Amino acid sequence: MRQFNEDTLTAAVVERFQRGAKNPRFRELITAAVKHLHAFARDVNLTEEEWFEGIKFLTAVGQKCDDKRQEFILLSDIMGLSMMIVALNHKTPPGATEATVLGPFFAHGAKEYGYGADLREGATLKGEDVWVFGRVLSTDGKPIPNAALDIWQAKADGIYDLQTEGEFELRGRVRANEKGEYALMSYKPKFYSVPMDGPVGDLVRATGNHHMRPAHMHAIVSAPGYQQVITHVFVEGDSYLESDAVFGVKNSLVAEFKRHDPGVAPDGKRIERAFYTVSLDFGLKPAAR
Ligand code: BEZ
Ligand code: FE
Repeated sequence: MRQFNEDTLTAAVVERFQRGAKNPRFRELITAAVKHLHAFARDVNLTEEEWFEGIKFLTAVGQKCDDKRQEFILLSDIMGLSMMIVALNHKTPPGATEATVLGPFFAHGAKEYGYGADLREGATLKGEDVWVFGRVLSTDGKPIPNAALDIWQAKADGIYDLQTEGEFELRGRVRANEKGEYALMSYKPKFYSVPMDGPVGDLVRATGNHHMRPAHMHAIVSAPGYQQVITHVFVEGDSYLESDAVFGVKNSLVAEFKRHDPGVAPDGKRIERAFYTVSLDFGLKPAAR
């Protein structure tokens, strides 16, 4: 057959792709994509003008991307697709830390630190001091020596270092000690807006939703022989925990940031400002064999 209508076209495309595609997984993905895309067009009776708007939008998303800005990740995050993929791929056994969204602001090459890292070093904006400490454990509860914790967070103005010119800020690769203990100092994170100056911002506005993420610190925790976990530490009590713009909240990742009056800080030094502490263990699953 060489002529198709809306009832016969999908099967023809699927059949052609199935015949030509060598890799079985690629075949599965591309034919499912065709079926779902055609079903979407049929369901809503997509007009040519609407599809052209869609193409213009996707073009703008691509044009917004550069080596620092990843508008496609942001689109995936806002559509809930990133968290759908996390949910499908990261089942959490007891004792393991839950995974959440990576987001667009991870960077390789951050400064390396040991136990007691001070991530406030070089910060251009001050915030409220927080000491974060805990252990990195295997799911059987045993400490994992020398695990690495890649930590990053927004500055006090809600903007990540990568969103502006300048040096890395409030990020570092913190090594736990031989007993699996880590400790770091930073500023208490605040809620902030996802980037709204691109086509994904227009999309969020068109849906009439807010564009805020609850306060959090990002962490990627890794150690040889274990599966790394991409996760967050959320601040208990944040007003956006119920409505995260990217659906990333997991109850187990919400931690109490305890406020302390000025006095002796966890590093033994006197501090004349109020400060916070948060204690949190991370659990890693053994690597799949
Ligand atoms: C973030 O937490 O850094 C983030 C995640 C998704 C979209 C935008 C920002
Ligand atoms: Fe973030």
